[in-house]
Amino acid sequence: MADDDARRLDDLFHLYQSETDRLLGYPCTATFDYSPLYRFLAFPLNNLGDPSKSNNTRLQTHELEREVLAMFGEFTHAPPDSFWGYVTSGGSEGNQYGTFLARELYPDGIVYHSEDTHYSVKKIIHALRVRSVLIRSLPNGTMDLADFAAKIKLHRDQPPIIFANIGTTMKGAIDDLAGIHAILKQHEVSKFYIHADAALSGMILPFVDDAPAWNFAAPVDSISISGHKMIGCPFPCGVVLARKPNVDRITSQVEYTGSLDTTITGSRNALGPLFLWYALRTIGVAGFRSRIRGCLEVADYACEQLNAIGRNAWRHRHSNTVVFDRPSNEMVRKWQLAVTGNIAHVMTMPQTTRERIDLFVADLKG
Ligand SMILES: Cc1ncc(COP(=O)(O)O)c(C=O)c1O
Repeated sequence: MADDDARRLDDLFHLYQSETDRLLGYPCTATFDYSPLYRFLAFPLNNLGDPSKSNNTRLQTHELEREVLAMFGEFTHAPPDSFWGYVTSGGSEGNQYGTFLARELYPDGIVYHSEDTHYSVKKIIHALRVRSVLIRSLPNGTMDLADFAAKIKLHRDQPPIIFANIGTTMKGAIDDLAGIHAILKQHEVSKFYIHADAALSGMILPFVDDAPAWNFAAPVDSISISGHKMIGCPFPCGVVLARKPNVDRITSQVEYTGSLDTTITGSRNALGPLFLWYALRTIGVAGFRSRIRGCLEVADYACEQLNAIGRNAWRHRHSNTVVFDRPSNEMVRKWQLAVTGNIAHVMTMPQTTRERIDLFVADLKG
């Protein structure tokens, strides 16, 4: 390699080393060690096709993918023999899959989502050419159920496809699924589909006591969870799970691959399942419980410290998203904060120690 190119790579490496310490606004766990897996980077692995069926190739990690899905099935209370899923490129693909499945089941369905839903939903709705209705959000970030009820009443004849937030991007808010079900019942809506966008909180709620309704037991019909957020991974990945009878209705066999064409993309990253499998096996349920407890404790500490300097900080009960008054653009850039309107947030991830919060708050105080 030319000297210049080698220097560029070194510079990039050092940039990442120093900037990871100031990544406060985005929910990426950075405390991982996947070095025992580095040897697998020597192979052209590809998880093309449906993970639940064997295909024509051996250079894949489908067996590990199935084990990852089984573990997520337990975390999400999926019906044991009647759910299906795959490891995605991230939460957005899982949301696209859930919406696609719902649209195939209900071609005349209407997607309902709140103002606080992740920005990718607009693109998904546009790409799938499905009608949508925007529901107001309450100041705490949850869907305004009075507005939801009023809009359901207006479109009672078309099946609602509800895009429920299980932890909104900016405020970590969880939509009230019991309330949503009650409204559907009250308006005698029998055909509907609920997709749960649990990008971050899907790896928090299984490990806390008294979690609100959020999973297949709620019930919902599909769930998308990111892998690189609370679990942590050097590249984006995620998991989508759905009820199998719904998936069976839209499945087709492909002779060229020897598999079923059930996934959004054709070729799929085989390292995602490998890395997720490794993380889930080595950290385990007890490890995630203690990780989440730690993140929520630091979130409380961040609220206290930010409030001590008058920044109006708060968080939802099971959320590590600490919302506070938007600081200067310089602070936003320096600490890689996420901002919307007049608020910002800090995510207390496993690497976000009290010391790091102290440094940030001292800098904010000026
Ligand atoms: C609520 C929510 N949904 C979906 C996504 C998209 O997830 P991903 O970045 O894994 O595609 C995010 C990302 O921050 C999110 O916060």
